[in-house]
Amino acid sequence: MCGIFGYIGDKNASQVLVQGLLRLEYRGYDSSGIVVRNGSLQTFKEIGKISDLTSILPKMEGSIGISHTRWATHGGVTKENAHPHTSEDGKVAIVHNGILQNSNKLRKRLTRKGIKLSSETDSEVFCHFISIELQKGKTPMEALASVLRIVRGTWGLCVLFKDYDMILCARNGSPLIIGRSSDEMFISSDPHAIREHTSEMFALDDGQIARLDREGFEIMLPEGTPVESNPLELDEEWGVSDLGDYPHFMLKEIHEQSQSLKHCITGRLRHSSGSANLGGLEITPQALSTIPHVRLIGCGTALHAAQIGQLLIEKWARIPAVSHVASEFNMNDPVINSKAMHFAISQSGETADTLSAVKEIQRKGADVHGVINVVGSTIARQCGKGVYIHSGPEQSVASTKAFTNMVGALSLFALKLGRGRSLNLSEGKRITKGLKELPKKIETYLADQGPIAEAVDAIIGAKNVLFLGRGVSSPVASEGALKLMEIAYIPCLAYPAGEMKHGPIALIEEGSPVVVIAPNDGVQDRTLNAIHECKARGARIILIHEEGDSIAEIGDINISVPKTHPMLSPLITVIPTQLIAYHTALKLGNDVDRPRNLAKSVTVE
Ligand code: F6R
Repeated sequence: MCGIFGYIGDKNASQVLVQGLLRLEYRGYDSSGIVVRNGSLQTFKEIGKISDLTSILPKMEGSIGISHTRWATHGGVTKENAHPHTSEDGKVAIVHNGILQNSNKLRKRLTRKGIKLSSETDSEVFCHFISIELQKGKTPMEALASVLRIVRGTWGLCVLFKDYDMILCARNGSPLIIGRSSDEMFISSDPHAIREHTSEMFALDDGQIARLDREGFEIMLPEGTPVESNPLELDEEWGVSDLGDYPHFMLKEIHEQSQSLKHCITGRLRHSSGSANLGGLEITPQALSTIPHVRLIGCGTALHAAQIGQLLIEKWARIPAVSHVASEFNMNDPVINSKAMHFAISQSGETADTLSAVKEIQRKGADVHGVINVVGSTIARQCGKGVYIHSGPEQSVASTKAFTNMVGALSLFALKLGRGRSLNLSEGKRITKGLKELPKKIETYLADQGPIAEAVDAIIGAKNVLFLGRGVSSPVASEGALKLMEIAYIPCLAYPAGEMKHGPIALIEEGSPVVVIAPNDGVQDRTLNAIHECKARGARIILIHEEGDSIAEIGDINISVPKTHPMLSPLITVIPTQLIAYHTALKLGNDVDRPRNLAKSVTVE
């Protein structure tokens, strides 16, 4: 989604800004722009790719500037709506992430003052009001503080001034990270973009503003009270990620799953006690043993991981667990039990819907534990405790390795919770063994992926694709469908296999592709019924099964994966579905890593 990158130093700002924008590209955007202070504020914006912007950029001097990638919310994808926005007198330029709720009212106020708005955006109001305050004789900081008092909504905001050699920033609900190296300062909505310049980073908190100049930076509250900066510790795994020998990040990340799962579980598995150690939970064994229920919250892929976590917790710990769509959570005034455990699951740690559910739970008196990939992200900091999933940077918009690690981390938690309750030692050991062996099994599967190309041929040109699974394979079916839909733009439907006959079966006609996930997990024979019902109506079955299994030849296209512990099968059965999505999108000529309309980090509700 929208991204911000700003720079002050001794280098050519436009070049550093473009480099920063390229690092933000993976988040998804539809236009971009930069403004550099060089006597005047020189602004350039373009719709489309960053390369479209660079094609119109002249050579220009100037060593301070701000830039933006926009993902349209208020106003269409046009050059006028792209950021930066500049005040009429050309003295103030802003870039903004977030949404202003009272922008209509503020736009009307500006129009009444005779100011001509040049975009349809909510963001534009910032630059005009700041300019009005400056004209009253206020300092830049005072002007910004006054404007922050009249706006309502969320912002990660950066302001550049024609007459002042500084960048002012403000945060409320939309992340901003400051980077400092010996003689340069950076500001970005994403630590990824700063990491190649410096590892010394500081996160702004909600309600804070910051001033960056050539001497350094200071963070304060709008009324001027200085606050201590909040250093951001990023692990080594958050190094700059590049494609290496892979054509796309998605393929690279699919192949990284063996290694990243190892990172997630290594050091946490306790084979001798058949359990797991998760220090970040900050919860005593006694408190764990009295939890009445567990709620898991996420969106998209994270929601599917939550659905698997729910099943693992119920199975191994025998306490009720329920997963929730984050965007629905607050809509229904949920009853919160402060003794229950709540998990917020998120790759980016910035998803606005998930963050808002976290705040609702905390407001009602309970703690929330994060299951997060991006270290130091907003949700991770809001929760203050939880489990990092250690996938490393995920650049492809379609999430792959984060899914396996979310499931990995939740299995560790379910195991730990189970062992503190009814799960016996030998089953605990069977699970730890299963988890330990999985990275190798993923590697084995990826070395011999089976007839993915045949599956792609069966899917290309289909009106729709049905994904079926039961038990832990039902969320895998949902995840497979989401992935294919996201990057191949083919309508996909995922259903628990038994529910298929209650409606979706109407879609099936001669040749309809149906992907069935059916590991040998105790519910497979029931899935078999659904396969026969589909076949009887002419469907082409793409079957994902375990090697050596009796149902191996039942599909029209049979993809076999190594056998694992039945409850851990999602960690491997999901991989063929990722490969099917990747190769289908590729064959259709789609932009695999940056599918249309999607954003990597969805920072609006
Ligand atoms: C799917 C995908 C999205 C995200 C969802 C939540 O490939 O990427 O569905 O899973 O937007 O994002 P996070 O995990 O960052 O909260």
